[in-house]
Amino acid sequence: MEKLNNFIEENKGRFVEELFGLLRIPSVSSKNEHKADMHKAAEYIKKSLLDAGAKTAEILPTDGHPVVYAEKIIDPSLPVVMVYGHYDVQPVEPVELWKSPPFEPEIRDERIWGRGADDDKGQLFMHVKAFEFMVKNGSLPCNVKFMIEGEEEIGSPSLGKFCEENAGKLKCDVILVSDTSMIGRDVPSITTGLRGLSYVEVEVTGPNRDLHSGLYGGAVVNPVNVLAKMIASLTDENNRITISGFYDDVVGVSQEERQAMGKAPFDIEKYKKEIDVDELGGEAGYSTMERTGIRPSLDVNGIWGGYTGEGAKTILPSKAFAKISMRLVPDQNSKKIDELFISHFKSIAPPGVRVDVRVLHGGEGYVSPVDHSAYRAASKAYEDTFGKKPVPFRSGGSIPIISLFEKVLGVKSILMGFGLESDAIHSPNENYPLWNFYKGIETIPLFYDYYSKEME
Ligand code: BES
Ligand code: MN
Ligand code: MN
Repeated sequence: MEKLNNFIEENKGRFVEELFGLLRIPSVSSKNEHKADMHKAAEYIKKSLLDAGAKTAEILPTDGHPVVYAEKIIDPSLPVVMVYGHYDVQPVEPVELWKSPPFEPEIRDERIWGRGADDDKGQLFMHVKAFEFMVKNGSLPCNVKFMIEGEEEIGSPSLGKFCEENAGKLKCDVILVSDTSMIGRDVPSITTGLRGLSYVEVEVTGPNRDLHSGLYGGAVVNPVNVLAKMIASLTDENNRITISGFYDDVVGVSQEERQAMGKAPFDIEKYKKEIDVDELGGEAGYSTMERTGIRPSLDVNGIWGGYTGEGAKTILPSKAFAKISMRLVPDQNSKKIDELFISHFKSIAPPGVRVDVRVLHGGEGYVSPVDHSAYRAASKAYEDTFGKKPVPFRSGGSIPIISLFEKVLGVKSILMGFGLESDAIHSPNENYPLWNFYKGIETIPLFYDYYSKEME
């Protein structure tokens, strides 16, 4: 461990500089104008992996953005760890709220600021540097593969097919992922669950054009008024989702398990303060950690329609739109939920409007067992570097490919995320503390050691 700490100490500045190179590439997967940047980011990672000691690295095309694949096989009889990460990032808007430009990374207050600093460029880069250490130090105890994709933030639409077509290449014993967060800097934790997702866009159409709201108001059904009512009716007074059949496949969690989860040292006051709200809300009968970890949810992500420009314009709009996401838990299936949503939403539309629902993307949830060799290895690694046994907990976020890996490759993933809530992922002013970045680089090689011992 001393060697590792010295290596980090001596190379800190270079690690950050190299990460900055990646952060400067605006690889926003959802926007066509960034198509060339996706390739640039893929090239950058390929080069970083080769420089770090990968034997081979290549850029593999998919139906969407390319995947970077690299490997170092030291002995075919040893286990294979496959590192997964994503080089794509979320859009940066509203850009005026950033204190420094999103693609001009800088260090302030011991943190790296920029889009992707945590999610996931900063976190995946910890793996590149940990790998570099193990190669240079001659201490790599097993085989390593890297699969870094560019479509995670848009739901990994091409990755199911990609995994099927490349199943041989991606063969491995465990998948190692840093794309989640910890409960707190002093509460090391390992994510044991992710939620699935159904994401839809709805369009409500009334009259064939925006109408004069004086001449027509009160006599013609207003699609924006209607949409607001329809959305309001999707949850009841207990904040339960009203779509019939929605909860049918939700796996209940035993009282014992709930009690164990309740022991996780989650600081609710800090959580509220961080986002500046004085009260929280959600499904009646569940704690905050349970509401995000083991219960599904429904949220409007955006809503628009009619006149939203400066000043007043007296119209009765022709159309109203909303983007709605539903976070799912085991054993809900996103395709089934899409169907339930579509038929429910159409059924509640009043006469006078037409409703169209488009499915934008989706994916399934994931639960990772704590009695798995990789969990034990990760747990020991955290205990060494944090001086505390990590707490298992279920996160509310989603990484669609993780369930695909299980389904297509039959391989479990271990979610060793080092992010914090304060990292503001997907928000303006995303950041990643240097402390977490270095802590990750320090913990990862220990995982490899313990995992290889587990597999002997
Ligand atoms: N890294 C996140 C997911 C995450 C963050 C999980 C923190 C747990 C803790 C990932 O990049 C992400 O944002 N996923 C999307 C998936 C979607 C776009 C299909 C999400 O959860 O919204
Ligand atoms: Mn991510
Ligand atoms: Mn993300």
